[in-house]
Amino acid sequence: QTIDWDMEAAEKCGFEHFMLKEICEQPKALRDTLRARYKDGSLSFPVQIENLLENCKHLLITGCGTAYHAAMVASYVIEQVAGLPVEVLVASELRYRPHIRKEGEVCLLISQSGETADTIASLRLLKELGIPTIALTNVVGCTLSREADWVLYTQAGPEIAVASTKAFTTQLLSLFTIASLIAKQERSGLLEALDQLPGKTQLLIDRQEDIQRFAASQFNKTKVFFMGRLVDFAISLESALKLKEISYTHSEAFAAGELKHGPIALVDTSTLVVALCTQPSLYAKMDSNIKEVKARGATALVITFEDVHTFDDTADAIFRLPQTHPLFSPVLSVIVSQLYAYYCSVLKGNDPDKPRNLAKSVTVE
Ligand code: G6P
Repeated sequence: QTIDWDMEAAEKCGFEHFMLKEICEQPKALRDTLRARYKDGSLSFPVQIENLLENCKHLLITGCGTAYHAAMVASYVIEQVAGLPVEVLVASELRYRPHIRKEGEVCLLISQSGETADTIASLRLLKELGIPTIALTNVVGCTLSREADWVLYTQAGPEIAVASTKAFTTQLLSLFTIASLIAKQERSGLLEALDQLPGKTQLLIDRQEDIQRFAASQFNKTKVFFMGRLVDFAISLESALKLKEISYTHSEAFAAGELKHGPIALVDTSTLVVALCTQPSLYAKMDSNIKEVKARGATALVITFEDVHTFDDTADAIFRLPQTHPLFSPVLSVIVSQLYAYYCSVLKGNDPDKPRNLAKSVTVE
């Protein structure tokens, strides 16, 4: 007698797709990643990495795709809490431009797989210039981890779906621990917020039906724009990437202040605009951007914190995030975008795990 055994179905643990499984695994992946860096109320890094980061005068961060967006988020957070100048370059550009080494420069290279060709080429170039390198990766023993001077691991576990979800949020959390390590401001408030983040992602995942319902009313939109400022701009880029990758919807992202420099020409009644609004000092600016797209007939979804009422009369729909430190909002806001992209993909009859023309790891040029 033989037993029918569908290996893939078993690995999905009852979820329809790996992508949804991996989205739902984020609270655990984040807890595991945090546990590696934060023990008994204090941060714990290998001493050489701690010294390197504490003495760094100029941080260069690079990566491709989603990892590049994590680098963008980190640049805002590290500059704000640590006052350290941060430069972000996409690895596919970094490797081809002349690099001028700065005094006290350290480079952080982010890659889920640790096998992306452009990120590895950038690493080799920086090493030739004598710049100390730290890899942030999810795969033990990958090329990046073997060739970089130092390595930090995310604890996301295997990520099977092509579109990155838990690898991204664990990269963000790791980068926030680095920001907290070199913070010039009071560290305890940051650490308390970090400690609570995994639990807050669970609250969002528990409300995924709200996002599914919204996706059911919008998935046929042919144009979707994401806009935001500062970390919300970085998450707008990541949100547009996720939506185009798996739902094949034309989606774009822009810094909200750039609305009048082009994107507004495309806004009409067929447009969905998702406004990410998690930076309190910029709520009023975002509200006026939303009014401008609404005046041209767009539908506006606002993603903001639960106690914010600035957008109540402006937005068509509001998705409310549990309260956290505004600089750490990306870990929460991006989960809304991941779920939105996932449900749009499924509603359109696509396979979100294996989007057309895309590979999990781009190991050749
Ligand atoms: C591909 C994947 C993306 C990923 C990017 C970088 O484009 O589809 O999900 O963000 O490569 O991959 P890495 O493994 O270097 O993070």
